[in-house]
Amino acid sequence: MNLLITGGTGYIGSHTVVELLKLGHDVAIVDNLANSSTQVLPRIEQITGLSPRFIEADICDRAAMDKVFSENAIDAVIHFAGLKAVGESNDIPLSYYHNNVSGTVTLLEVMAEHKVKNIVFSSSATVYGENNQSPLVETMPTSATNPYGQTKLMIEHILFDLAKSDPEWSIACLRYFNPIGAHESGLIGENPNGIPNNLLPYVAQVAVGRLAQLQIFGDDYDTIDGTGVRDYIHVVDLALGHVKALESLDKIDGCQAINLGTGNGTSVLQIVEQFKQTAERDIPYQIAPRRAGDIATVFANAELANNLLGWQAERGLVEMITDTWRWQSQNPNGFE
Ligand code: NAD
Ligand code: WQD
Repeated sequence: MNLLITGGTGYIGSHTVVELLKLGHDVAIVDNLANSSTQVLPRIEQITGLSPRFIEADICDRAAMDKVFSENAIDAVIHFAGLKAVGESNDIPLSYYHNNVSGTVTLLEVMAEHKVKNIVFSSSATVYGENNQSPLVETMPTSATNPYGQTKLMIEHILFDLAKSDPEWSIACLRYFNPIGAHESGLIGENPNGIPNNLLPYVAQVAVGRLAQLQIFGDDYDTIDGTGVRDYIHVVDLALGHVKALESLDKIDGCQAINLGTGNGTSVLQIVEQFKQTAERDIPYQIAPRRAGDIATVFANAELANNLLGWQAERGLVEMITDTWRWQSQNPNGFE
């Protein structure tokens, strides 16, 4: 297939590009490098022996996107491009609404003009809000607690309405749980700007000595050890979920939301313990107050992805942490 991958130089996008190239797909990436760098491109080539076409462009730039669709034959789009930092979205909500929501509308309009009506969208488990009990099922009510989550929810609504208005669209909204890990080569991985917001990059930077200690946000939740429980999923499993979603788009009637998770929950302390064992490093930590907006337990019901896409996560926690550590220890300063 001829594929356009927006946000393809980012964390999940780059891992997905690797899997798509390995399968012989023709890949063009559009990214404005807001949260990534072109240094990932030679790494992708080192892993696959192939190089994707790279176009530096903003999905909000209609003329640039029109040019991309005019100059490249495209069968389907995987749409990763977006801003993703929950805390930052509270400070600069308009940037989030503009970039994520308006950017997606522009992309969809240009796609429609060029009669490309197949899209896989990066949604998030954040759309389940804080009032549902895990395991989370796709049919549960959705809500959002911050502007970032609102953008994912709004885009889902837009995609549902679009599919309802025109049966030619095939749309998969993949609701990711907590992606971690890196490619087994250690050549690509998560490379956050500044102090990481998410647990795994934070722990990895403590292990490698870039950060002094981890703050564990709350140890009085109603969970196995009092710390928050999440459904961590290996980024390569996630990438393969996109491959399966693409291959299944013709089976999807309209727009379908699909969880990509493992169905298992792991606590913060379990992560820290496993990381210590894998890295053979101490991970100093301090118990800190709960983080606003966090809930105790989040994990997926992953049955729909299995039934509809024939996909399930294969990689366990040890592999996720081993691969995170390989990436972090081989690239202590990311791609720099
Ligand atoms: P990332 O920041 O590494 O990748 C996103 C990419 O999009 C970056 O390369 C960035 O430069 C690019 N981008 C942002 N705005 C753009 C624009 N206007 N035009 C073109 N490119 C733009 O993030 P990621 O972790 O790979 O996440 C990919 C997608 O998955 C995002 O939409 C994110 O919201 C979603 N998601 C991520 C997680 C997670 O925990 N990582 C969980 C659920 C959903
Ligand atoms: C995991 C656990 C924290 C950092 C976020 C977004 C969500 C999705 C994935 C995009 C929680 C604890 C964390 C730290 C800690 N992203 N923690 N100390 O909050 O489940 O989800 O990323 O869609 O929308 O909200 O992930 O990695 O931030 O936290 O104790 O320094 O680790 O409290 O229990 P989260 P996370």
